[in-house]
Amino acid sequence: MIAGPVSAHADLMDRNYRFQRHVYDLTRKFYLLGRDKLIRGLAPPHGGSVLEIGCGTGRNLVLAAGRYPDARLFGLDISAEMLATATSTIARKGLAARTRLARGDAAAFEARELFGEPGFDRIYISYALSMIPAWQSAIEAALAALRPEGSLHIVDFGQQARLPRWFRDGLHGWLRNYHVTPRATLEAELAKRALEAGRPLAFDSLYRDYAWLAVIGPVRGGQPTASP
Ligand SMILES: C[S@@+](CC[C@H](N)C(=O)[O-])C[C@H]1O[C@@H](n2cnc3c(N)ncnc32)[C@H](O)[C@@H]1O
Repeated sequence: MIAGPVSAHADLMDRNYRFQRHVYDLTRKFYLLGRDKLIRGLAPPHGGSVLEIGCGTGRNLVLAAGRYPDARLFGLDISAEMLATATSTIARKGLAARTRLARGDAAAFEARELFGEPGFDRIYISYALSMIPAWQSAIEAALAALRPEGSLHIVDFGQQARLPRWFRDGLHGWLRNYHVTPRATLEAELAKRALEAGRPLAFDSLYRDYAWLAVIGPVRGGQPTASP
């Protein structure tokens, strides 16, 4: 098991996923929508580094490895239980030599310390911000770990604005059982952070606002206008 931070949130995630991790990929494919679209949009440079924050079972890393055969892959998660599944999946798929996993808190991690990497070409966060209490700090930490020419890709639950009210209320109530809170102010937070970092933001609403997909692009002109 990969060692790492012990905190109330880490314990909560481990309890949440201790049994769920065994059926996770089978069940989540029906409602974690937009993940494959995010992976298709990564397009890292030749030999580039790709980090998933909140990598869970490693499902997305495996897909990214298939799509970008020369990318170097990295995964970070706070749950040792999820990382146990990710480690065995990645080994089973023959990807261990080009993938590094580490246990850490997305809200406060040091890329160089955890992975020995000064910065990443692509970072993505898939359906994890809605589970991270300090999600704004996770965005800040991700931007800090990004190379100037790199990009940050995020997919998560939207606000279901173009779906029936009963659906939205039912979904949010059900998600609360799993400690998931869709971040209503995600677009505003990303816009603020992108502006501070001197990077452009593209923000899309998918599937009648079921999900949101955002990309914060490379630093304009090569230098940030302000520290994130
Ligand atoms: C809903 S799962 C998504 C997993 C994967 N990204 C996917 O798309 O299938 C959320 C993941 O975020 C992780 N997570 C939650 N809080 C975290 C934190 N503070 N730091 C790192 N990972 C965290 C959980 O352990 C879990 O593996």
